[in-house]
Amino acid sequence: MTGALSGMAFVLSSPSALPQASNAEDASGQQAFNNACRTCHIMREGDNRLGPNLHKVIGRKAGSLPEYAFSSAMKEAGFVWDEEKLDRFIANPEEVVPGNNMKPYGGLSSSEDRKKIIAFLAQAR
Ligand code: HEC
Repeated sequence: MTGALSGMAFVLSSPSALPQASNAEDASGQQAFNNACRTCHIMREGDNRLGPNLHKVIGRKAGSLPEYAFSSAMKEAGFVWDEEKLDRFIANPEEVVPGNNMKPYGGLSSSEDRKKIIAFLAQAR
């Protein structure tokens, strides 16, 4: 194998160079998530950044990860995340959990992008 080819094989096998999604739709959901959420959230279980990890967030009780310091608003929200709650929260967090600490975040007005992101969150569970 030439040097150039083995260099390429390295790039292709490095995890960060490969999109995790398997088809185009997943990839665009991942892209939308990367643009809007990934500064603060990742999907890996137990790995909290500025925001809590979103591993299996659909079906998870709001504010319930023991190792993350949620606002009391989120801890006391008293519901389980589903697609509908997420859609409203991503559009306007304040409306769903008043006093929450997901900031600075301007809300995502494109319902198309919200749908893609929620599909991405759902398939990542
Ligand atoms: C500027 C950083 C930031 C961005 C950008 C951001 N978040 Fe958050 N997110 C947070 C923080 C901080 C919290 C914790 C809020 C609290 O405790 O009140 C949070 C909480 C959440 C929760 C509640 C999790 C739980 O366990 O109850 C969900 C769901 C969520 N974010 C989804 C998203 C999605 C989806 C996006 C992209 C559309 C996004 N966030 C963008 C910082 C951010």
